[in-house]
Amino acid sequence: MLRRLTRREGLAMAGAGLLAGGAAPDHAPLDVLARRKGLRFGTALGAEGLADRGYLALVARECGALVAENEHKLYALKPGAPDEWRWAGADRIAAFAADRGMFLRGHTLLWNRDEFAPDWLKRQGLGSQAEGERWLTAHVRTVIGRYPQIRSWDVVNETIDPATGAMRDTVFTRAMGADAVEIAFRAAHEAAPQARLAYNDYMGWGPSDAKHRAGVLRLLERLKARGVPIHTFGVQGHIPNGDAGNVVVFSQADQREWRAFVDEVRGLGLDLVITQLDVNDTVLPADPTRRDAIAAGLVRDFLDLMLDYRELKQVLVWGLSDRHSWLQTWWPRPDRLPKRPTPYDAELRPKAMRAAIADALRGAPERTPWT
Ligand code: G3I
Repeated sequence: MLRRLTRREGLAMAGAGLLAGGAAPDHAPLDVLARRKGLRFGTALGAEGLADRGYLALVARECGALVAENEHKLYALKPGAPDEWRWAGADRIAAFAADRGMFLRGHTLLWNRDEFAPDWLKRQGLGSQAEGERWLTAHVRTVIGRYPQIRSWDVVNETIDPATGAMRDTVFTRAMGADAVEIAFRAAHEAAPQARLAYNDYMGWGPSDAKHRAGVLRLLERLKARGVPIHTFGVQGHIPNGDAGNVVVFSQADQREWRAFVDEVRGLGLDLVITQLDVNDTVLPADPTRRDAIAAGLVRDFLDLMLDYRELKQVLVWGLSDRHSWLQTWWPRPDRLPKRPTPYDAELRPKAMRAAIADALRGAPERTPWT
Protein backbone atom coordinates (compact mmCIF):
# COMPACT_ATOMS: atom_id res chain seq x y z
CA MET A 1 0.00 0.00 0.00
CA LEU A 2 1.58 3.30 -1.09
CA ARG A 3 0.66 6.48 0.69
CA ARG A 4 2.01 9.88 1.67
CA LEU A 5 4.07 10.16 4.82
CA THR A 6 2.22 11.37 7.88
CA ARG A 7 3.64 14.19 9.97
CA ARG A 8 4.83 11.64 12.51
CA GLU A 9 6.67 9.60 9.87
CA GLY A 10 8.37 12.79 8.68
CA LEU A 11 9.36 13.55 12.25
CA ALA A 12 10.76 10.05 12.64
CA MET A 13 12.92 10.59 9.57
CA ALA A 14 14.11 13.91 10.94
CA GLY A 15 14.91 12.28 14.28
CA ALA A 16 17.04 9.70 12.51
CA GLY A 17 18.89 12.44 10.64
CA LEU A 18 17.32 11.33 7.37
CA LEU A 19 15.87 14.68 6.35
CA ALA A 20 17.97 17.73 5.59
CA GLY A 21 17.97 20.03 8.60
CA GLY A 22 16.59 17.33 10.91
CA ALA A 23 17.20 17.34 14.65
CA ALA A 24 20.47 15.79 15.80
CA PRO A 25 19.91 12.20 16.95
CA ASP A 26 20.14 11.48 20.68
CA HIS A 27 22.84 8.90 21.20
CA ALA A 28 21.84 7.82 24.71
CA PRO A 29 21.42 4.03 24.58
CA LEU A 30 17.80 2.92 24.35
CA ASP A 31 18.01 1.06 27.65
CA VAL A 32 19.26 4.23 29.35
CA LEU A 33 16.25 6.13 27.98
CA ALA A 34 14.00 3.28 29.08
CA ARG A 35 15.43 3.16 32.61
CA ARG A 36 14.77 6.84 33.14
CA LYS A 37 11.07 5.92 32.92
CA GLY A 38 11.19 2.72 34.96
CA LEU A 39 11.35 0.51 31.86
CA ARG A 40 13.92 -1.79 30.26
CA PHE A 41 14.75 -2.06 26.58
CA GLY A 42 16.10 -5.21 24.99
CA THR A 43 16.24 -7.58 22.07
CA ALA A 44 16.03 -11.19 21.06
CA LEU A 45 19.38 -12.79 20.32
CA GLY A 46 19.91 -15.96 18.31
CA ALA A 47 22.75 -18.19 17.18
CA GLU A 48 23.62 -16.03 14.18
CA GLY A 49 23.72 -12.85 16.22
CA LEU A 50 25.87 -14.53 18.84
CA ALA A 51 28.50 -15.25 16.21
CA ASP A 52 28.61 -11.61 15.02
CA ARG A 53 30.94 -9.47 17.12
CA GLY A 54 29.87 -6.13 15.67
CA TYR A 55 26.26 -6.97 16.33
CA LEU A 56 26.98 -8.12 19.87
CA ALA A 57 28.69 -4.82 20.60
CA LEU A 58 25.55 -3.01 19.44
CA VAL A 59 23.32 -5.26 21.54
CA ALA A 60 25.50 -4.65 24.59
CA ARG A 61 25.38 -0.89 24.02
CA GLU A 62 21.65 -0.49 23.42
CA CYS A 63 20.07 -3.21 25.54
CA GLY A 64 19.46 -3.97 29.20
CA ALA A 65 17.21 -6.96 28.56
CA LEU A 66 17.69 -10.05 26.43
CA VAL A 67 15.71 -13.07 25.31
CA ALA A 68 16.88 -16.11 23.34
CA GLU A 69 15.17 -16.10 19.94
CA ASN A 70 14.87 -19.89 19.63
CA GLU A 71 17.24 -21.51 22.09
CA HIS A 72 14.75 -22.25 24.90
CA LYS A 73 12.16 -23.75 22.60
CA LEU A 74 11.49 -27.43 23.02
CA TYR A 75 12.52 -28.21 19.45
CA ALA A 76 15.89 -26.54 20.13
CA LEU A 77 16.49 -28.08 23.56
CA LYS A 78 15.36 -31.58 22.58
CA PRO A 79 15.46 -31.80 18.80
CA GLY A 80 15.96 -35.50 18.28
CA ALA A 81 15.01 -37.64 21.25
CA PRO A 82 13.11 -37.51 24.55
CA ASP A 83 16.18 -37.73 26.77
CA GLU A 84 18.71 -35.77 24.78
CA TRP A 85 19.17 -32.19 25.97
CA ARG A 86 21.06 -29.61 23.93
CA TRP A 87 21.86 -26.71 26.18
CA ALA A 88 24.81 -25.11 24.40
CA GLY A 89 22.92 -22.35 22.55
CA ALA A 90 20.80 -21.32 25.54
CA ASP A 91 23.85 -21.49 27.84
CA ARG A 92 25.78 -19.10 25.59
CA ILE A 93 22.97 -16.55 25.62
CA ALA A 94 22.59 -16.84 29.39
CA ALA A 95 26.34 -16.27 29.80
CA PHE A 96 26.27 -13.21 27.51
CA ALA A 97 23.45 -11.70 29.58
CA ALA A 98 25.06 -12.60 32.91
CA ASP A 99 28.44 -11.12 31.92
CA ARG A 100 26.76 -7.80 31.18
CA GLY A 101 24.24 -7.80 34.00
CA MET A 102 21.32 -7.88 31.55
CA PHE A 103 17.77 -8.83 32.53
CA LEU A 104 17.19 -12.22 30.89
CA ARG A 105 13.74 -13.33 29.72
CA GLY A 106 12.89 -16.92 28.82
CA HIS A 107 10.92 -17.86 25.68
CA THR A 108 9.17 -20.31 25.94
CA LEU A 109 8.26 -23.29 28.13
CA LEU A 110 5.10 -24.38 26.32
CA TRP A 111 4.71 -23.31 22.70
CA ASN A 112 1.33 -24.84 22.17
CA ARG A 113 1.55 -25.37 18.40
CA ASP A 114 2.25 -28.67 16.71
CA GLU A 115 4.27 -27.09 13.90
CA PHE A 116 6.90 -26.12 16.48
CA ALA A 117 6.91 -29.35 18.48
CA PRO A 118 9.71 -31.83 17.73
CA ASP A 119 8.81 -34.76 15.49
CA TRP A 120 9.67 -37.38 18.10
CA LEU A 121 7.11 -35.88 20.47
CA LYS A 122 4.37 -35.75 17.87
CA ARG A 123 5.13 -39.33 16.90
CA GLN A 124 5.00 -40.74 20.42
CA GLY A 125 2.44 -38.39 21.99
CA LEU A 126 2.20 -37.72 25.70
CA GLY A 127 -0.19 -40.49 26.72
CA SER A 128 -2.79 -39.96 29.42
CA GLN A 129 -3.58 -36.74 31.28
CA ALA A 130 -1.45 -37.87 34.23
CA GLU A 131 1.46 -38.83 32.00
CA GLY A 132 1.22 -35.53 30.15
CA GLU A 133 1.20 -33.63 33.41
CA ARG A 134 4.25 -35.52 34.67
CA TRP A 135 6.13 -34.86 31.43
CA LEU A 136 5.28 -31.15 31.25
CA THR A 137 6.01 -30.54 34.93
CA ALA A 138 9.39 -32.24 34.63
CA HIS A 139 10.22 -30.28 31.48
CA VAL A 140 9.34 -26.95 33.05
CA ARG A 141 11.30 -27.77 36.21
CA THR A 142 14.38 -28.85 34.30
CA VAL A 143 14.54 -25.81 32.04
CA ILE A 144 13.79 -23.30 34.79
CA GLY A 145 16.21 -25.08 37.12
CA ARG A 146 19.08 -24.62 34.69
CA TYR A 147 18.52 -20.85 34.36
CA PRO A 148 17.82 -19.37 37.79
CA GLN A 149 18.96 -15.99 36.40
CA ILE A 150 15.81 -15.78 34.22
CA ARG A 151 13.36 -13.49 36.00
CA SER A 152 10.58 -13.42 33.43
CA TRP A 153 9.29 -16.43 31.49
CA ASP A 154 6.94 -16.73 28.56
CA VAL A 155 5.45 -19.78 30.18
CA VAL A 156 2.90 -20.32 27.44
CA ASN A 157 3.16 -18.98 23.91
CA GLU A 158 0.44 -18.68 21.23
CA THR A 159 -2.05 -21.19 22.55
CA ILE A 160 -5.10 -19.45 21.07
CA ASP A 161 -6.11 -20.27 17.50
CA PRO A 162 -6.57 -16.91 15.74
CA ALA A 163 -9.22 -18.35 13.42
CA THR A 164 -11.57 -19.45 16.20
CA GLY A 165 -10.39 -17.90 19.45
CA ALA A 166 -10.34 -21.40 20.98
CA MET A 167 -7.42 -23.33 22.44
CA ARG A 168 -5.31 -24.94 19.73
CA ASP A 169 -5.47 -28.70 19.36
CA THR A 170 -1.94 -30.00 19.92
CA VAL A 171 0.12 -32.88 21.18
CA PHE A 172 -0.12 -31.21 24.61
CA THR A 173 -3.87 -30.62 24.70
CA ARG A 174 -4.54 -34.11 23.31
CA ALA A 175 -3.08 -35.42 26.57
CA MET A 176 -4.04 -32.69 29.04
CA GLY A 177 -6.84 -30.71 27.39
CA ALA A 178 -6.92 -27.01 28.22
CA ASP A 179 -5.34 -27.88 31.59
CA ALA A 180 -1.96 -27.97 29.85
CA VAL A 181 -1.73 -24.19 30.20
CA GLU A 182 -2.56 -24.18 33.87
CA ILE A 183 -0.19 -27.06 34.57
CA ALA A 184 2.67 -25.18 32.92
CA PHE A 185 2.05 -22.03 34.97
CA ARG A 186 1.76 -23.89 38.27
CA ALA A 187 4.94 -25.88 37.58
CA ALA A 188 6.79 -22.69 36.61
CA HIS A 189 5.70 -20.92 39.77
CA GLU A 190 6.81 -23.83 41.92
CA ALA A 191 10.19 -23.94 40.23
CA ALA A 192 10.74 -20.16 40.28
CA PRO A 193 8.48 -18.50 42.85
CA GLN A 194 10.09 -15.08 42.27
CA ALA A 195 9.87 -15.12 38.48
CA ARG A 196 7.29 -13.08 36.56
CA LEU A 197 5.25 -15.49 34.51
CA ALA A 198 3.75 -14.44 31.20
CA TYR A 199 1.27 -15.54 28.62
CA ASN A 200 2.60 -14.36 25.24
CA ASP A 201 0.72 -14.01 21.95
CA TYR A 202 0.63 -12.11 18.65
CA MET A 203 -3.02 -11.05 18.40
CA GLY A 204 -3.29 -7.92 16.28
CA TRP A 205 -5.28 -4.74 16.43
CA GLY A 206 -7.34 -5.05 13.24
CA PRO A 207 -10.96 -6.19 12.95
CA SER A 208 -9.83 -9.53 11.51
CA ASP A 209 -8.07 -10.24 14.82
CA ALA A 210 -11.17 -9.71 16.96
CA LYS A 211 -11.65 -13.45 17.58
CA HIS A 212 -8.01 -13.84 18.49
CA ARG A 213 -8.16 -10.99 20.99
CA ALA A 214 -11.42 -12.28 22.48
CA GLY A 215 -9.97 -15.78 22.84
CA VAL A 216 -6.85 -14.49 24.54
CA LEU A 217 -8.94 -12.42 26.91
CA ARG A 218 -11.13 -15.40 27.80
CA LEU A 219 -8.02 -17.43 28.52
CA LEU A 220 -6.51 -14.76 30.76
CA GLU A 221 -9.81 -14.30 32.61
CA ARG A 222 -10.10 -18.02 33.20
CA LEU A 223 -6.54 -18.30 34.47
CA LYS A 224 -7.01 -15.40 36.87
CA ALA A 225 -10.37 -16.71 38.07
CA ARG A 226 -8.77 -20.06 38.85
CA GLY A 227 -5.95 -18.49 40.83
CA VAL A 228 -3.27 -19.55 38.35
CA PRO A 229 0.07 -17.80 39.01
CA ILE A 230 0.24 -15.51 35.98
CA HIS A 231 1.69 -12.02 36.32
CA THR A 232 2.35 -10.64 32.87
CA PHE A 233 0.82 -10.40 29.43
CA GLY A 234 3.35 -10.52 26.63
CA VAL A 235 2.25 -8.52 23.60
CA GLN A 236 4.51 -9.73 20.83
CA GLY A 237 4.18 -6.58 18.77
CA HIS A 238 4.94 -7.98 15.34
CA ILE A 239 3.52 -5.19 13.19
CA PRO A 240 1.26 -5.73 11.34
CA ASN A 241 0.19 -7.81 14.28
CA GLY A 242 -1.72 -10.99 13.91
CA ASP A 243 -2.74 -12.64 10.67
CA ALA A 244 -4.04 -9.52 8.99
CA GLY A 245 -1.51 -9.79 6.15
CA ASN A 246 -0.92 -6.57 4.32
CA VAL A 247 -2.57 -4.10 6.63
CA VAL A 248 -0.01 -1.50 7.64
CA VAL A 249 -2.09 1.23 9.21
CA PHE A 250 -2.92 1.79 12.85
CA SER A 251 -6.08 3.82 12.38
CA GLN A 252 -7.96 5.69 15.09
CA ALA A 253 -10.56 2.93 15.04
CA ASP A 254 -7.83 0.28 15.44
CA GLN A 255 -6.34 2.24 18.29
CA ARG A 256 -9.69 2.41 20.08
CA GLU A 257 -10.17 -1.35 19.68
CA TRP A 258 -6.67 -2.06 20.85
CA ARG A 259 -6.97 0.20 23.88
CA ALA A 260 -10.23 -1.49 24.85
CA PHE A 261 -8.44 -4.84 24.71
CA VAL A 262 -5.43 -3.68 26.73
CA ASP A 263 -7.75 -2.01 29.26
CA GLU A 264 -9.43 -5.39 29.84
CA VAL A 265 -6.07 -7.04 30.38
CA ARG A 266 -5.03 -4.32 32.76
CA GLY A 267 -8.27 -4.85 34.63
CA LEU A 268 -7.09 -8.36 35.39
CA GLY A 269 -4.09 -6.95 37.26
CA LEU A 270 -1.45 -8.11 34.80
CA ASP A 271 1.74 -6.26 33.91
CA LEU A 272 2.58 -5.80 30.25
CA VAL A 273 5.71 -6.46 28.21
CA ILE A 274 6.19 -5.86 24.49
CA THR A 275 8.15 -9.00 23.78
CA GLN A 276 8.89 -9.16 20.03
CA LEU A 277 8.57 -5.76 18.36
CA ASP A 278 9.36 -5.43 14.65
CA VAL A 279 7.66 -4.38 11.40
CA ASN A 280 7.02 -6.72 8.51
CA ASP A 281 7.71 -4.45 5.53
CA THR A 282 6.73 -6.93 2.82
CA VAL A 283 4.18 -4.57 1.27
CA LEU A 284 5.78 -1.21 2.12
CA PRO A 285 7.30 0.93 -0.66
CA ALA A 286 10.67 -0.15 -2.07
CA ASP A 287 12.43 3.16 -1.42
CA PRO A 288 14.30 2.54 1.85
CA THR A 289 13.83 6.04 3.23
CA ARG A 290 10.09 5.99 2.72
CA ARG A 291 9.85 2.42 3.90
CA ASP A 292 11.78 3.18 7.07
CA ALA A 293 9.69 6.25 7.75
CA ILE A 294 6.41 4.34 7.51
CA ALA A 295 7.74 1.54 9.71
CA ALA A 296 8.98 4.10 12.23
CA GLY A 297 5.61 5.86 12.23
CA LEU A 298 3.83 2.59 13.00
CA VAL A 299 6.25 1.79 15.81
CA ARG A 300 5.90 5.26 17.26
CA ASP A 301 2.09 5.14 17.27
CA PHE A 302 2.10 1.66 18.77
CA LEU A 303 4.65 2.54 21.46
CA ASP A 304 2.98 5.82 22.36
CA LEU A 305 -0.26 3.97 22.99
CA MET A 306 1.36 1.13 24.91
CA LEU A 307 3.69 3.32 26.97
CA ASP A 308 0.66 5.20 28.27
CA TYR A 309 0.06 2.09 30.36
CA ARG A 310 2.26 2.22 33.41
CA GLU A 311 1.85 -1.55 33.62
CA LEU A 312 4.17 -1.78 30.59
CA LYS A 313 7.58 -2.63 32.06
CA GLN A 314 9.76 -3.71 29.15
CA VAL A 315 10.07 -3.27 25.40
CA LEU A 316 12.00 -5.92 23.49
CA VAL A 317 12.57 -5.92 19.75
CA TRP A 318 12.77 -9.18 17.84
CA GLY A 319 16.25 -8.43 16.53
CA LEU A 320 18.11 -5.12 16.65
CA SER A 321 19.46 -5.12 13.10
CA ASP A 322 18.04 -6.10 9.70
CA ARG A 323 21.10 -8.32 9.45
CA HIS A 324 19.58 -10.77 11.91
CA SER A 325 15.84 -10.61 11.45
CA TRP A 326 13.67 -13.69 11.01
CA LEU A 327 11.63 -11.63 8.53
CA GLN A 328 14.42 -11.81 5.94
CA THR A 329 13.28 -15.35 5.18
CA TRP A 330 9.61 -15.23 6.19
CA TRP A 331 7.21 -13.48 3.76
CA PRO A 332 9.79 -12.22 1.23
CA ARG A 333 8.98 -9.02 -0.63
CA PRO A 334 7.57 -9.43 -4.14
CA ASP A 335 10.55 -7.35 -5.44
CA ARG A 336 12.97 -9.57 -3.47
CA LEU A 337 14.63 -6.54 -1.85
CA PRO A 338 16.10 -7.19 1.60
CA LYS A 339 13.65 -6.49 4.39
CA ARG A 340 14.07 -3.61 6.87
CA PRO A 341 12.05 -4.72 9.95
CA THR A 342 14.28 -3.55 12.83
CA PRO A 343 15.80 -0.35 14.30
CA TYR A 344 19.25 -0.78 12.66
CA ASP A 345 20.05 -1.54 9.03
CA ALA A 346 22.19 -4.44 7.86
CA GLU A 347 25.33 -2.29 8.21
CA LEU A 348 24.35 -1.53 11.81
CA ARG A 349 23.42 2.08 11.06
CA PRO A 350 20.48 3.48 13.05
CA LYS A 351 17.26 3.95 11.09
CA ALA A 352 14.19 6.07 11.64
CA MET A 353 12.75 3.28 13.78
CA ARG A 354 15.57 3.68 16.28
CA ALA A 355 14.74 7.38 16.60
CA ALA A 356 11.04 6.55 16.93
CA ILE A 357 11.73 4.20 19.82
CA ALA A 358 14.01 6.74 21.48
CA ASP A 359 11.41 9.50 21.12
CA ALA A 360 8.62 7.29 22.42
CA LEU A 361 10.71 6.34 25.47
CA ARG A 362 11.62 9.97 26.09
CA GLY A 363 7.94 10.92 26.01
CA ALA A 364 6.74 8.02 28.18
CA PRO A 365 5.33 8.60 31.65
CA GLU A 366 7.41 7.31 34.54
CA ARG A 367 6.43 4.06 36.20
CA THR A 368 7.51 1.82 39.03
CA PRO A 369 10.20 -0.48 37.66
CA TRP A 370 10.34 -4.20 38.10
CA THR A 371 12.85 -5.08 40.79
O1 G3I B 1 18.78 -24.22 12.99
C1 G3I B 1 18.34 -24.60 11.67
C2 G3I B 1 19.52 -24.72 10.76
O2 G3I B 1 20.33 -25.77 11.21
C3 G3I B 1 19.02 -24.96 9.34
O3 G3I B 1 20.11 -24.94 8.46
C4 G3I B 1 18.05 -23.87 8.91
C5 G3I B 1 17.46 -24.13 7.52
O4 G3I B 1 16.13 -23.72 7.44
O5 G3I B 1 16.99 -23.84 9.83
C6 G3I B 1 17.42 -23.53 11.14
O6 G3I B 1 16.33 -23.47 12.01
C7 G3I B 1 15.51 -22.35 11.85
C8 G3I B 1 15.51 -21.58 13.17
O7 G3I B 1 14.61 -20.50 13.09
C9 G3I B 1 16.87 -21.02 13.54
O8 G3I B 1 17.27 -20.08 12.59
C10 G3I B 1 14.11 -22.82 11.53
O9 G3I B 1 14.11 -23.39 10.24
C11 G3I B 1 13.15 -21.65 11.57
O10 G3I B 1 11.83 -22.16 11.44
C12 G3I B 1 13.28 -20.94 12.89
O11 G3I B 1 12.41 -19.83 12.84
C13 G3I B 1 12.13 -19.20 14.06
C14 G3I B 1 10.63 -19.31 14.33
O12 G3I B 1 10.28 -18.55 15.47
C15 G3I B 1 10.20 -20.75 14.58
O13 G3I B 1 10.79 -21.21 15.78
C16 G3I B 1 12.57 -17.77 13.96
O14 G3I B 1 14.00 -17.72 13.93
C17 G3I B 1 12.07 -16.99 15.17
O15 G3I B 1 12.34 -15.61 14.98
C18 G3I B 1 10.58 -17.17 15.34
O16 G3I B 1 10.18 -16.52 16.50
C19 G3I B 1 8.77 -16.49 16.76
C20 G3I B 1 8.57 -16.52 18.25
O17 G3I B 1 9.23 -17.63 18.81
C21 G3I B 1 7.08 -16.54 18.60
N1 G3I B 1 6.41 -15.42 18.00
C22 G3I B 1 6.59 -15.28 16.57
C23 G3I B 1 8.08 -15.22 16.23
C24 G3I B 1 8.28 -15.01 14.78
O18 G3I B 1 7.76 -16.12 14.05
